[in-house]
Amino acid sequence: MDYKKEIERLKKELSVTVVAHYYQRDEVFELADITGDSLELARKCKEDASEWIVFCGVGFMGQSVKVVAPEKRVLMPRIACCAMAKMIDGTCFDDSVAYMVEHGIKKEDIFPITYINSDVSVKAKVGEMGGLVCTSSNAYKIIEHALESNKKILFVPDRCLGQNFAISMGLQSCVIGEGECDVQSSDIICFNGFCSVHQLFTPKDVAFFRQKYPDIKIAVHPECDPSVTALADFVGSTSQLITYVNSLDADQKVAVGTEYNLVHRMREKNTYVLSSTKPECPTMNETTLEDLYTTLKSIEDNAPINEIEVDAHTREYAKLALDRMLAIK
Ligand code: 13P
Ligand code: SF4
Repeated sequence: MDYKKEIERLKKELSVTVVAHYYQRDEVFELADITGDSLELARKCKEDASEWIVFCGVGFMGQSVKVVAPEKRVLMPRIACCAMAKMIDGTCFDDSVAYMVEHGIKKEDIFPITYINSDVSVKAKVGEMGGLVCTSSNAYKIIEHALESNKKILFVPDRCLGQNFAISMGLQSCVIGEGECDVQSSDIICFNGFCSVHQLFTPKDVAFFRQKYPDIKIAVHPECDPSVTALADFVGSTSQLITYVNSLDADQKVAVGTEYNLVHRMREKNTYVLSSTKPECPTMNETTLEDLYTTLKSIEDNAPINEIEVDAHTREYAKLALDRMLAIK
């Protein structure tokens, strides 16, 4: 079957918007109506007019759309769970709050922030405690907002994102479970989660490219370890990385530290993946053209598959956390 042709037909005939994150396979990405980084996808889906959203990405992304736009029917060709999001659930979140309380911080003096790469149940806990969500593109503003409360920030689940923004903002941070986490003297207390794909990039990779091409630029995602971001010329979300690379002269070499599918399609020449191994996100790569076709066909057949549902209680509080983020421009 010619999946591409069939997908194009179904898109014309149904009230559906196909959404894809930049890390999706090329053949899936090319057929999307909406693309972007996590923040852009959440905003654009909320404003979209179609009845159906077919989201090619990882589970937390589809959940976020269902929470901010509950009237929409959200289907995911694959409900693949981001490995980082899997590292924390509601209980781990409660344990992190308890850790801070044991170290002398009252619960009401904790301001929780969850990276959007987390399950909706964690977002709900954060929303219930008065906190909010951030993404890699707005973390600076969200942390600035949290600091106005004069509370201690609990940042989950990505320790790298928390530490990277703490460093760039001149704040103290520590990681629960990693050596001595000095809660009292830290501004940001991080949960010990990470992205296994972005952990692949190392200072050795940066040294390799700088030695080989002395004028090369290094651009990385803030999910990379602080030892790597410290050596980079530019740190930013997926969309910000694209804008940065596009702003360079055509003959300027650049090595990019983020997922392979995105780097591969960035620029034909003078763009390198900042790693000797292929940094592919296994869960983002699960979605195939056949999966996308099957999902769209299920709408046509009135038997939708892989629909995202969020119970009313979880949605209410997760929506608070997501809406607070979306309100910050
Ligand atoms: P962005 O929000 O930068 O697109 O990042 C999403 C992600 O999962 C990065 O690993
Ligand atoms: Fe999750 Fe990492 Fe994949 Fe992004 S690249 S979706 S953080 S596992």
